[in-house]
Amino acid sequence: MLRKIFTNEFNYIVRDIKSNEEFMKTKSKAHHGINRYNHLERVAFYTFIVTKCLRLNYIEATRAAFLHDFFIDDVEHMSTIKALRRHPRCALDNSKKYFDLTPLQEDIILTHMFPVTFTPPKYFESVIVDVIDDIAGIYEKYKSSSKELKAALTYIFMLTINFIKK
Ligand SMILES: [Fe+2]
Ligand SMILES: [Fe+2]
Repeated sequence: MLRKIFTNEFNYIVRDIKSNEEFMKTKSKAHHGINRYNHLERVAFYTFIVTKCLRLNYIEATRAAFLHDFFIDDVEHMSTIKALRRHPRCALDNSKKYFDLTPLQEDIILTHMFPVTFTPPKYFESVIVDVIDDIAGIYEKYKSSSKELKAALTYIFMLTINFIKK
């Protein structure tokens, strides 16, 4: 029941983004082993829940989280490290072409890769999106990895836990 209420409000907040033709192209782009649209939706939905519960500016934060990786082909020719550093700017420029953004939303998109990019977040909402994006990225990569890699990662995780306990 609570999830349904959350989902309805979430869908209302991002309804125009979800119906934007250019944004729909993210469905055909690979990202962390899934498609970019699903990654954006996951980060935005958890941003919505966390920022709403913390009584922050959840409407602006949710919309910006949904746009934080809104780019189509801009970084495909770049090396991985260059793409990691440049894609927040591409996402911001692209988002501004299709949607009106507030200073908070611009900061969320531009700093979501901090500290890989050097500009630190100015707002608490930006820090939240940065952290949720990292957790979502690790989860998505783990989920889409092979059985062998999953087993190896689980083994390393258990070793780390044991090491911390000692
Ligand atoms: Fe990103
Ligand atoms: Fe992301």
